[in-house]
Amino acid sequence: MKVGIMGGTFDPIHFGHLAMAESARENFSLDEILFIPSARPPHKANNQITPEVHRLMMTFLATQSNKYFQVSPMEFMRAGLSYTLDTIDALHQKFGNDTELFFIIGSDSMRDLPTWHKAKELVEKVHFISIARPGVNVNFEELQNFFGEEGMKHIHQIESPALEISSTDLRERVKKGRSIKYFVPEVVEGYIYKEQLYFMSADSMRHELQKRLKKERFAHSIGVANTAVKLAKKFCVDERKAYIAGLLHDCAREFENEQLKDEATKRGIEIGEVENSMPLLLHSYIGAKMIEEIYDVHDAEIAQAIYRHTVGARDMTPLDKIIYFADMIEPNRNYPGVEKLRELAEKSDDLDEIILTALNESIIFVTQKNSLVHPDTIAARNFLLLQKEKLKK
Ligand SMILES: [Fe+2]
Ligand SMILES: [Fe+2]
Repeated sequence: MKVGIMGGTFDPIHFGHLAMAESARENFSLDEILFIPSARPPHKANNQITPEVHRLMMTFLATQSNKYFQVSPMEFMRAGLSYTLDTIDALHQKFGNDTELFFIIGSDSMRDLPTWHKAKELVEKVHFISIARPGVNVNFEELQNFFGEEGMKHIHQIESPALEISSTDLRERVKKGRSIKYFVPEVVEGYIYKEQLYFMSADSMRHELQKRLKKERFAHSIGVANTAVKLAKKFCVDERKAYIAGLLHDCAREFENEQLKDEATKRGIEIGEVENSMPLLLHSYIGAKMIEEIYDVHDAEIAQAIYRHTVGARDMTPLDKIIYFADMIEPNRNYPGVEKLRELAEKSDDLDEIILTALNESIIFVTQKNSLVHPDTIAARNFLLLQKEKLKK
């Protein structure tokens, strides 16, 4: 029997890993491929790695549709650092002497093979299949000098379609709220969001926010988050983004006026003349920065929705609009006219109509108080009206 072995942290597993394994299986007529998530790889001992259970689950999910793919948690069972040699010894014991083992690696790992723990002994016991990666040249002469002619009989290289996906890049994408669709199987994508991997969980965010906000403000934030999710469902906007933006929109709202100016200056936020007269407005701009600093949210769309939640802006995205409006109608709000706005949200399927009404209400409110109207609010309203006109033509 011929068994292929795919090792890796699989944090997360992606189509690059799966395509590599399938190429090796096809080229070497392997009977099965065993995916073995590594526990504590020696070269990553100090890095933060996602808990084993999640990496194992993602590997199971990613491989379930291929009958040749199996998953083994064997490295998690062993204490101490995981060395490939220990794994190979254990596998030889498991499968017996008639089974040939083929360790599948990328050509970058192949280049470093001589530096692996007891590399020569390893090459005697297992075949290595290196998948050629664009831009990585393996010096086979050097490998031959190190492993000798006998050793080289166990070293193979195959070409495979280039799928330059990196797990580090995928984690970064999730953190920044960017899509990982078509990089990982859909089931893995779903698992990452369900288990809130690679970003601060909503629970931790709520916990952190609760420590920093007054009771009423915290209740208001939860109200905005829940209302934003309802609106997001209705208007087909990312519900997770709506929840986080709603939850954190007022995260900088506890600062007093002078503090607000200081906090804005500290972060390089320009203070316009309207903001200078009404420093309260600055909490939106500061909040958009604080979500990165405190809540580890690096999502530009969420930051923008928070930035725009008080005065709006020209050309708002659906997420911007939802947060702006949820802030006005969440269940704890109680002012004349709020019921009418809530009814409108129920009845209307036109988000622009809803926002236009909300902007009008807000402009009437501030003018009645003889307060300043922020130019961005006017810009938001004019933009929507002009767009409506264009549509009519
Ligand atoms: Fe606010
Ligand atoms: Fe608010």
